[in-house]
Amino acid sequence: MIIHTINGISGESTLLIGERLENVMAYVPEGASVLFITDNTVWQLYRNRFPTDDVIRIGTGESVKTLVTAELLYQELLNRGADRSTFIVGVGGGIVCDIVGFVSSTYMRGLRFGFVSTTLLAQVDASVGGKNGVNFKGYKNMVGVFNQPDFVICDIDLLKTLPNREVLSGFSEMIKTAVIADETLFDYMEKSVDRAVELDRAVLEKLVSASVLIKSRVVNQDEKESGERRKLNFGHTLGHAVEKTTGMLHGEAVSIGMAVALTVSSQHEGLPEKSAGRIIALLRRFDLPVQVNGDLNPVLVAMEKDKKKTGSDIYFVFLKEIGQAVVRKIPMDKLIPLIRHAMTTPV
Ligand SMILES: NC(=O)c1ccc[n+]([C@@H]2O[C@H](COP(=O)([O-])OP(=O)(O)OC[C@H]3O[C@@H](n4cnc5c(N)ncnc54)[C@H](O)[C@@H]3O)[C@@H](O)[C@H]2O)c1
Ligand SMILES: [Zn+2]
Repeated sequence: MIIHTINGISGESTLLIGERLENVMAYVPEGASVLFITDNTVWQLYRNRFPTDDVIRIGTGESVKTLVTAELLYQELLNRGADRSTFIVGVGGGIVCDIVGFVSSTYMRGLRFGFVSTTLLAQVDASVGGKNGVNFKGYKNMVGVFNQPDFVICDIDLLKTLPNREVLSGFSEMIKTAVIADETLFDYMEKSVDRAVELDRAVLEKLVSASVLIKSRVVNQDEKESGERRKLNFGHTLGHAVEKTTGMLHGEAVSIGMAVALTVSSQHEGLPEKSAGRIIALLRRFDLPVQVNGDLNPVLVAMEKDKKKTGSDIYFVFLKEIGQAVVRKIPMDKLIPLIRHAMTTPV
């Protein structure tokens, strides 16, 4: 097991990589009454590993990440007499973690909470950084709070039941973390692809640990997303649009977004083609898509609606070299032609 303590502006959080769901009670504050929240799929697969049978369950999928579900959970907490001494544990992927973090942070002005992350994406991304929230009127993560869980357990064993596409989608986010901030992690990923996709425990612990450390380093420099943290959006401007228009998984869409951003970076920011080629090759080795099939227009239209745009300007993340990203504010009407050109002339 690898343990890290993350000190963020909104609190301290302990990450336990390689710890198991069945040991979760060891990390709950002494004397607190505990309530577990999970989703139906995780419950079906792992109910035997929960320390109790009394677990609140929600449905699965992005469509449940709403205020309606939050309200149902507030009601459940009320029914069960939850108060400020109650500790909430969310067990699941990014959806469970996002809702549980939000509900815990707002019910009675905030209860303490922890996560057991059960998807690779949640382990490397959703569990670090203190962002919690729900979607609103079709806009992703529109309503939420910054607040750190007391702990996050990344149980590597649980990843074995995760559909392969979901696993690969998590690796996409890990590649992103490496390319924006840490060449060493990138090199290690290149060397360990085969063992990584087989979910080799030692390799996974190392990879998850390295990515959460890098993400938390970036986040700690800038917890409220004004400068440094924007680098984590590498591949996401277009990625979100691809996700919305094609229904691909988040990491798959981000992989395409990264591939396009790499081409734009080669064409306009001096990213050596060799480096861009290495990154594309790694995405491919993880079986991740690197281009959109079919009509580009709906993707570009969706991109213009992206919530991250400020007026007509957008913060776009370019890559200068593996491990070195740069954020530039660029008018949307200048960015669209660059992206259109990049999508038709990939490196
Ligand atoms: N807060 C953040 O910083 C942050 C960062 C990245 C992503 N997110 C959010 O995370 C969400 C996506 O997270 P996700 O990809 O984990 O999706 P998810 O939570 O929907 O999980 C994917 C699917 O896998 C199932 N599942 C979970 N664990 C499993 C296991 N061990 N075995 C088998 N099946 C399992 C789930 O029931 C679900 O059907 C998005 O809503 C996104 O906005 C948040
Ligand atoms: Zn992402």
